[in-house]
Amino acid sequence: MRPLHGHRVLLGITAGIAAYKAAELARLLVKDGAEVRVVMTRSAVQFIGPMTLQAITGQPVRDALFDPVHESAMGHIELARWAEVILVAPATADFIAQTAAGMAHDLLSTLCLASAAPLLVVAPAMNQAMWRHPATQANVALLRSREVTILGPDHGEQACGDTGPGRMVEPALILAALRDRFAGGRRLAGRRVVLTAGPTREALDPVRFLGNRSSGKMGFALASALVAQGAEVVLIAGPVTLATPVAVERIDVETALQMRDAVFTSLPGAAIFIACAAVADFRPATVAEQKIKKATETLTLELIRNPDILSEVAALADRPFCVGFAAETHDVETYAEAKLMAKGLDMIAANQVGVSQGFEADDNALLVIWNGGRQALARQSKPQIAALLVNLIADQFDAQTAT
Ligand code: C5P
Repeated sequence: MRPLHGHRVLLGITAGIAAYKAAELARLLVKDGAEVRVVMTRSAVQFIGPMTLQAITGQPVRDALFDPVHESAMGHIELARWAEVILVAPATADFIAQTAAGMAHDLLSTLCLASAAPLLVVAPAMNQAMWRHPATQANVALLRSREVTILGPDHGEQACGDTGPGRMVEPALILAALRDRFAGGRRLAGRRVVLTAGPTREALDPVRFLGNRSSGKMGFALASALVAQGAEVVLIAGPVTLATPVAVERIDVETALQMRDAVFTSLPGAAIFIACAAVADFRPATVAEQKIKKATETLTLELIRNPDILSEVAALADRPFCVGFAAETHDVETYAEAKLMAKGLDMIAANQVGVSQGFEADDNALLVIWNGGRQALARQSKPQIAALLVNLIADQFDAQTAT
């Protein structure tokens, strides 16, 4: 059965250059088996013709609150009750403000107010300054506090010539989020996932070590997002100060060698391996038994290469679906693509790191690349981005197991 079979989706389209993407979204929804009714704002009609949406959905498109012809077929209150989910893409700053304030100025905002549909999914698209404006941010926070799902916006070049956050997320990602919600968050039910997170510490002597800035937040957020999808999660964590996510089996390790042992012990039966840890590439050749004294002006350390855990897992004959991370300070995309190939991975999630960016921060932006596709995930909180990444992993895992 198609993933959205029989689900009733009310697709709201507001005015913006991204409105053309709504046609592709409607097509994907219909292809996935959803019943789709489109409501456009009056200004959205300036950007994309209702006939296009009507042809795709096979249903009349509405744009007016007081339209005797349409009202006699299905009144707006009836339409509000019909909807199982209201999905608004693209959503303008004005629509977000209206919905946050509970206004009912036109058909779409009235439907949002009149509907008891628990699921309101909004994909903002606007100029970056409008998105960043405190008023918009406050409105978005208000919607989130009401459990409205906000997808995106993506970061990048805008039609107005600016660069920044404000591009509508790709229709495929909206579809994935919707599938996820309708699947009741059980896309990975019964799948064992082994996940590494946090830094490693390589001892120099009894009191000192070589380490890195990884906080483990991204890996721990991933562990929670995987559990939310029904996965059985083994989280192999380097030294971090984070609470164990609910229903996760946690194995604490310190060094890269211990992490590797824990991974190989946990791997039997695993469908997916995610290497999120910032593993030390080198360890001291010898560990001093006693504290090293500052007896000399200079000190030379000899380091030896640690095994690459991810490459070793990816090289196994009967290997799980392998996901790696690439934290880079520059040329993120180029290095990530090279790493995907060199390590023989199924997917890689790349991010730019620097001071307070990536490693210790509470939010993150990722470029996810797999063989034959890519998806940029705009800057957002680590739990939110983890949920989106798990969806992409589930998509590609499903695609691979289906072949
Ligand atoms: O080669 P690089 O260290 O940049 O690769 C990063 C990816 O490889 C991450 O997914 C990381 O968890 C994994 N890795 C590993 N073992 C290592 C080094 C990196 O699993 N020794």
